[in-house]
Amino acid sequence: MCGIIAYIGKQKAVPILLEGLRQLEYRGYDSAGISVIQKEKIITLKAVGKVVELQNKIGERDFSGKIGIAHTRWATHGKPSDKNSHPHGDCEGNIFLVHNGIIENYQELKNILIKKKHKFLSETDSEVLAHLIEDFNKTLNFKKSVLEALKLVRGTYGLAIINKNEPDKIIIARNGSPLILGIGKDEFIVASDASAVVRHTDKVIYLGDNELAEITADDFEISNIKNKIISKKISKLNWTVEESKKGGFSHFMLKEIFQQPEVIGNGLRGRVERFLLEESVPMLGGLRMVEKRLRKIKKIVIVACGTSYYSGLVGEYMLEEYAGIPTEVEYASEFRYRKPILDSSTAVVAISQSGETADTLAAIREAKNKGALTLGIVNVVGSTIARETDAGTHTLSGPEIGVASTKAFTTQLVVLALWTLMLGRQRSMSNVMSKRIAQELKKIPKLIEGILKKSKEIQKIAKKYSSAKDFLYLGRKYNFPIALEGALKIKEISYVHAEGYATGEMKHGPIALIDENFPSIFICPKDSVYEKNISGMQEIKARGGKIIAIATVGDKEIARIADDVIYIPKTLEMLTPFVSVIPLQLFAYYFGVAKGYDVDKPRNLAKSVTVE
Ligand code: F6R
Repeated sequence: MCGIIAYIGKQKAVPILLEGLRQLEYRGYDSAGISVIQKEKIITLKAVGKVVELQNKIGERDFSGKIGIAHTRWATHGKPSDKNSHPHGDCEGNIFLVHNGIIENYQELKNILIKKKHKFLSETDSEVLAHLIEDFNKTLNFKKSVLEALKLVRGTYGLAIINKNEPDKIIIARNGSPLILGIGKDEFIVASDASAVVRHTDKVIYLGDNELAEITADDFEISNIKNKIISKKISKLNWTVEESKKGGFSHFMLKEIFQQPEVIGNGLRGRVERFLLEESVPMLGGLRMVEKRLRKIKKIVIVACGTSYYSGLVGEYMLEEYAGIPTEVEYASEFRYRKPILDSSTAVVAISQSGETADTLAAIREAKNKGALTLGIVNVVGSTIARETDAGTHTLSGPEIGVASTKAFTTQLVVLALWTLMLGRQRSMSNVMSKRIAQELKKIPKLIEGILKKSKEIQKIAKKYSSAKDFLYLGRKYNFPIALEGALKIKEISYVHAEGYATGEMKHGPIALIDENFPSIFICPKDSVYEKNISGMQEIKARGGKIIAIATVGDKEIARIADDVIYIPKTLEMLTPFVSVIPLQLFAYYFGVAKGYDVDKPRNLAKSVTVE
């Protein structure tokens, strides 16, 4: 949510900042801006729209400045406009900053500053920070002014600030919004996200909450909010530059859909094999230190948002059926405001691609306070949720750039399936059963490859329905969450109305919507609820509704009822979501592309939601 990039070193800052903004654009793209220190002046340029608009504004102008900050915005306070875009400045044009997060008490602070004759140009909460720092900077140095200003602030921030009065440095600070300090050769690159750092260096420091860094061209110093110097570990980024490119695909989303056999393979490799052996209870690496506590767990609560929430719902079916542990799945945004009943026999599991989703992070903190064991299923290594949970397993899907989540989802399912095996083996699951599931899991990448080969067929079906304005997605048991996920995908990138429902629930209301213009997509593999799904299909058919079915290969009966069928390979019932979700991802992708939308950057969305 919003992207921050800052540069200080021996090279010209503007090209590096623009390149960084392009990398970060998936985090927010309604406007962008840049400030560079040049010949004792700060030059600021902003543009509404994508980064290319800012680039056009800069045009052929050659900026020699070697220190700068930049931002790509996802609006929270104030509509996208030049004046609301970052960087924001103080009254005198001395201090400029870029900000991610939300200053909750900004109005209160603004009122005080207005009384002190500060002049505000924007409607944003962020501008308040520039004026607050300016106020302290009348008597204190730059760093102390930032520290004093931050003491008055309530809310979240990732900040990069420059000051004409101390033009040899950048100050960065974090509370709740991620910031990474990249340590290059004779240069430092700060970003809200690893994708903008990786082409410069793989040596990084993850700034923690309430930490601040003062960075010059040759050195940096990190302190906490009380101005106590702290030393931090330098970590190695596990991303490559290649991973952050489209690699011949027309969109990141399509690349990421097609990467699924490979990344699922990565998630399984070295992990699934241990369930094929005669070992007593195989343990996954990241959970070893909590092995004893896991044996005593009586309840699991999964907290997550959006697509990650839906993978949690699949996990609920898996964990209850095969590990025998009562499991609940909660929207993280609701969990944090309820009074959840938790104790040390509960494991609260955060599922998050980014590891930075504000609601999920808050839910985990709440669970920790209540004494629960906290676990993470997170993609981004070094992210806040990965660091703050007691233990966990990384999903290893690599960077996901497309705003609509695809490979992150299926790799979350991989971890949930492995956890089911492990927790099941700790309890009553037989070795024979765990071997059988593990063997089938190993086949999943190949099965998905087979579905991807049919992408042209799915594209044709998507085109056939391109005039539809609504869709009903239906599924039962393991495929009920897949109905929800399929509906979310098409909503996000095609802006059509879609609802996901449990097939059995359809006759309790939504069937009233059905007519010949309101198609239904049934996820109907040959599983234990197949007959029930077929009855639902007949009910839709009887009301003139069109049907697209996702069915198991060889199912001839379904072709007689449905208008179109997309076949998926046979696997264990518990693993059908891996194969049933792929055609729905492709369907949504081709549907959005057919409508001419930028599916990688859907309107109003941003990749990582670091505000509440
Ligand atoms: C949907 C999507 C979002 C995210 C949600 C949680 O395609 O991407 O719904 O799944 O914002 O994000 P993470 O997994 O990063 O916590």
